[in-house]
Amino acid sequence: MDAAYLSEWANLLLRWLHLIAGVAWIGTSFYFIGLDNQLDKPADGNPRVAGEQWSIHGGGFYHKQKYLVAPERLPEKLHWFKWEAYWTWISGFSLFVLIYWGQASTYLVDPAVLDMPAWVAVLISAAMLAGGWVAYDQVCRSKIGENEALLGAIGAAALAVVAFVACHVFGGRGAFLQVGAMTGTIMVANVAMVIMPGQRKMVAAMGKGEAPDPKYGRWGKQRSVHNTYLTLPVLFIMISPHYPMTYQSRWNWVVLLAVGLAGALVRQYFVLRQKGRNAAWLPAGAAAVVALLIWTGAPERPSGTAEAPPFAEVQAIVAARCVSCHAARPTQEGFAAPPKGVMMETPQQVRRWAASMRQQVQTEAMPPGNLTEITAEERAKLLAWVAAGAPAD
Ligand code: HEC
Repeated sequence: MDAAYLSEWANLLLRWLHLIAGVAWIGTSFYFIGLDNQLDKPADGNPRVAGEQWSIHGGGFYHKQKYLVAPERLPEKLHWFKWEAYWTWISGFSLFVLIYWGQASTYLVDPAVLDMPAWVAVLISAAMLAGGWVAYDQVCRSKIGENEALLGAIGAAALAVVAFVACHVFGGRGAFLQVGAMTGTIMVANVAMVIMPGQRKMVAAMGKGEAPDPKYGRWGKQRSVHNTYLTLPVLFIMISPHYPMTYQSRWNWVVLLAVGLAGALVRQYFVLRQKGRNAAWLPAGAAAVVALLIWTGAPERPSGTAEAPPFAEVQAIVAARCVSCHAARPTQEGFAAPPKGVMMETPQQVRRWAASMRQQVQTEAMPPGNLTEITAEERAKLLAWVAAGAPAD
């Protein structure tokens, strides 16, 4: 078995794990944020209880109570939530390494953006991953961290800078995933480096019969709230590789910002709704942002009167620029099978993929990183041929 084949399986299995762990993590995270937002005053007037909620789910009644800081005594059994987050990161980081670092010359470097050796790209990527967390964490721990509005403004500005830099250093797809991985790393590090240690200190204090310091609760809550606003944009980024019109657009870094804004607005709507307020302008605002994205991102019609070339010429272009990967047995290093099952070796195959070829070639998503050095003229010819209905002459 060759390495590229095994790597495809590793890719698939890690992705599966990443999805499962991510669903579990986001599910519990959304659940607890929602619970927090929907607590009512305790009916029994227990002064230690901040709020409670009755709910019904799966045929059972549940009674949840949230304590102000902590209960009087440490319960015998305390359920922690952390492995969902950790496994999401472990699987996600492994995937990122496998795809974006392992095949950096395909997925991270785009010579049209910035020409650099693969190892330099990997170094920059790693430095950004670590640096993003350190910078974010330091700002949160500083005086600024006490002012949520200021913190939010700085966060948005930082996102703009990071998106701009990533999109001017890496190819579009790599840039998007870089920003997604940085955000995801911050979210998991919030759990591992702030929320968990704080909770451990609280529990340890109670174990010694002392009152836990409420600041740990506050800090943990702050990071947990940040995570909730980051969730939707990160999910968008994670599915964006399927849609080159997002990451390949000229203003791709603005797309990242817009998606960050739209995702946070939608999340805010749900948070407010849970608190009994109906701020319909929030999803409307998110829809407006997305509409603006769709409108401004529409590809221009190819200029000039490119005439459809003869089919033989199309085949020659495809054979030279696409078939090294899109063949039953790819000759391109690192490819064991035709990506996404797309093969373009025979005339029938070339015509079959004409429609998706348009999307890939127009947005310049294909060839990835323009590995096979297709020219603008060749692109125009392929597009003209597709526009003419992909004739076989
Ligand atoms: C270096 C290898 C490579 C070359 C060269 C290449 N592709 Fe691809 N192609 C890929 C990979 C990898 C994918 C899968 C992308 C993904 O993971 O979504 C892909 C996917 C596609 C898809 C399917 C997209 C989808 O998700 O539905 C089409 C269509 C396509 N390529 C067309 C082309 C065309 C046309 C060319 C030549 C102009 C080309 N490719 C050149 C690697 C390559």
